[in-house]
Amino acid sequence: MQLKGEVALVTGGAAGLGRAIVDRFVSEGASVAVLDRSPAGLAELKEAHGDAVAVVEGDVRFLDSHREAVAKCVETFGKLDTLIGNAGVWDYSTALVDIPDDTLSEAFDEMFSVNVKGYLLGAKACLPALYASKGSMTFTISNAGFYTSGGGALYTGSKHAVVGIVKQLAYELGPHIRVNGIAPGGLGGSDLRGLKALNLQDTSISSIPLADMLSQVLPTGQMATATESTGAYVLFATRAETVPLTGSILNYDGGLGVRGFTEANRGSLLDDHFAPNEVVGRVAP
Ligand SMILES: NC(=O)c1ccc[n+]([C@@H]2O[C@H](COP(=O)([O-])OP(=O)(O)OC[C@H]3O[C@@H](n4cnc5c(N)ncnc54)[C@H](O)[C@@H]3O)[C@@H](O)[C@H]2O)c1
Repeated sequence: MQLKGEVALVTGGAAGLGRAIVDRFVSEGASVAVLDRSPAGLAELKEAHGDAVAVVEGDVRFLDSHREAVAKCVETFGKLDTLIGNAGVWDYSTALVDIPDDTLSEAFDEMFSVNVKGYLLGAKACLPALYASKGSMTFTISNAGFYTSGGGALYTGSKHAVVGIVKQLAYELGPHIRVNGIAPGGLGGSDLRGLKALNLQDTSISSIPLADMLSQVLPTGQMATATESTGAYVLFATRAETVPLTGSILNYDGGLGVRGFTEANRGSLLDDHFAPNEVVGRVAP
């Protein structure tokens, strides 16, 4: 119960990573408000967690949705301790050359209005409540906030922008509010959708054999699930353990940044020495 008595607001909490964060926070004793555009996903959350969650249907591209979520959170739970900005969309690594001329502007606006503006509007709406609670903000970034080929230029650009926002807000809001980021890699259990402007709104990342692809390139040898990726969100939301933590971004991606120029080593030398008959593969969590 590391978050007993804490109150969080999670955007995009009705599916994938956001849903896993809500489940984990509730199990750690927190009360959680959720802003999401999916009425079905929100109904499932209510069903699963009852009074421990308060849900608001809305769109992170609009300040009014965030204001409504903050108001409902404070009205229901009496305060807000931490904002988890998390709702996002992907471009399915669509290359610039493949985006039609007459679609690019609209696709850019959609990507940045969800992934970047959605976070800024959330931060803005939460300021009074987080100032009052001396709370924190944590934003979901991505490996694409640091490296290429985790998306196309639209997604990669949007996640790099979030890196800058985390740093700038940490500078502006300290010492009252801590601001940090978490950059996961590919995730199991995600339903990440694409841009409507690219006609990818009904495409789910679960249709891609991501686990197979990532097992070849990650030093950990395995793609993490959304559930396995919630621990850092708990840590970043705790108060006692995170006194010095602001302006930090955790690369939480299975070691993408240390995989080397050619291929992941994946401990093969260790296996050669210590378990020569075993296949190099999944490392037990
Ligand atoms: N899935 C991955 O492999 C992966 C990897 C790295 C980072 N991420 C990041 O993790 C975050 C969560 O993604 P996920 O994989 O859990 O996706 P997901 O689609 O499973 O969940 C995202 C949730 O956000 C909601 N949402 C999307 N657009 C919205 C909008 N405009 N307004 C309100 N709600 C909206 C959806 O309804 C959904 O419930 C995103 O920021 C994504 O970029 C995902």
